[in-house]
Amino acid sequence: MSAIVVIGTQWGDEGKGKIVDNLAENADVIVRYQGGNNAGHTVIVNGQEFKLHLLPSGILYKGKTCVVGNGVVIDPAVMLKEINDMKAKGIDPSGLKISNRAHVIMPFHRLLDEVEEVARGENKIGTTKRGIGPCYMDKNARIGIRMVDLMDEEEFSAKLEWLLEAKNHLLKAVYGVDGFDFETVKKEYLGYAEELRPYVTDTLVVLNDAIKSGKKVLFEGAQATMLDLDHGTYPFVTSSNPVAGGVCVGAGIGPTKINKTVGVVKAYTTRVGEGPFPTELLDKTGELIRERGREYGTTTGRPRRCGWLDASVIRYAGMVSGLDYLAVTRLDILDGLETLKICVGYKYKGETIAGFPASLKVLAQVEPVYEEMPGWTEATSSIRTYAELPLNARRYVERLSEVSGVALGIVSVGPERDQTINLVDLY
Ligand code: GDP
Ligand code: IMO
Ligand code: MG
Repeated sequence: MSAIVVIGTQWGDEGKGKIVDNLAENADVIVRYQGGNNAGHTVIVNGQEFKLHLLPSGILYKGKTCVVGNGVVIDPAVMLKEINDMKAKGIDPSGLKISNRAHVIMPFHRLLDEVEEVARGENKIGTTKRGIGPCYMDKNARIGIRMVDLMDEEEFSAKLEWLLEAKNHLLKAVYGVDGFDFETVKKEYLGYAEELRPYVTDTLVVLNDAIKSGKKVLFEGAQATMLDLDHGTYPFVTSSNPVAGGVCVGAGIGPTKINKTVGVVKAYTTRVGEGPFPTELLDKTGELIRERGREYGTTTGRPRRCGWLDASVIRYAGMVSGLDYLAVTRLDILDGLETLKICVGYKYKGETIAGFPASLKVLAQVEPVYEEMPGWTEATSSIRTYAELPLNARRYVERLSEVSGVALGIVSVGPERDQTINLVDLY
């Protein structure tokens, strides 16, 4: 039995798709357990780029089972488009299994995501406007619509009628915008239901059976530790639990079934959307990293905020998810930088602080404690063994491992499948 969890350690876009794709080659089942199409996971195979929002990155391999678990929120139109796009690219999606317990994103969730952001004014979160937060709100309020409801016309009609009336009233009375027509939404969604029906099942059984029979299972986190609803920089977070603990709830397996947890770390830091970011670079170096790394959002195209590597964030992520290994990505983007800075802790009002502050007021005022490290001039993108990496590049990732207290497992030097240095056999 082997179950590996891959999570983001920072604010997302660390390269989880690339690492999951690398590990998926030897896995039997690949599982998404939270989030929705706010995620944008890029995988590059022989120069061909795939941007996955809802489908697990394992879909690109033949013969794998790909599970979208109960903890995911599903926009059916996006799911179908992704399935059809894959088919058009010659990829067979027949191994896809969608949880009948997953919640469904409705048109009013997307509209509410927009108008709520406007209403927040200066305090906006900078969401992806995909309806993620409002859908999870309804799930928690126990009024949401699940895939199992969508599959049952009678059940779906009854739930939709009641919910739509409430949401239309909210949209008009509070936000002054028009809502949606019941018959139109019903017809649209029942159409999606028919197309998705072959994939919808009790994925909890699929997964537990796979684990029992010794299959290799890979859990693909979306978003990241710092965007986690409980452990991230609240309220500038997403509405789900990307941390390793989220796997049990979002996929329906027990914690005893997880063997290893891997945290993906970008060799520097980026963040899309609002919220504090202690090591942010608002200068030429930040711009240089953005341009060299083409740091623009996969989902929304927004420029990503860039900054130095914050090892205190990784130490925190290591603790929250019990990380066994780090997978460091995009080391190649730092090639040629004369000096690098790595944040090893924070000072607040002149005093070193322990742990990661819960208060955003404190986090916004902390002073990063930096260590300066010399960079390297060599290009790393064609290197395939750890020993061949420039000495200063090794020193840099080793210092990260030391400060965070998590061992190195993978170093990635490019977006392609083979641009990966595996230091350990994770299976
Ligand atoms: P995710 O959301 O965590 O899956 O990450 P994204 O796909 O949003 O962003 C990561 C970007 O970095 C993608 O464009 C990947 O193709 C790319 N990428 C991943 N690993 C590497 C790497 O080691 N080097 C370079 N240059 N690009 C990488
Ligand atoms: P992947 O899986 C980076 C951010 C948004 C916003 C906040 C809340 O590709 O790493 P939401 O729409 O979830 O309510 O937005 O979370 N965010 C991401 N940032 N990568 C992601 O996914 C993200 N998913 C959400 O920018 O700040
Ligand atoms: Mg992404």
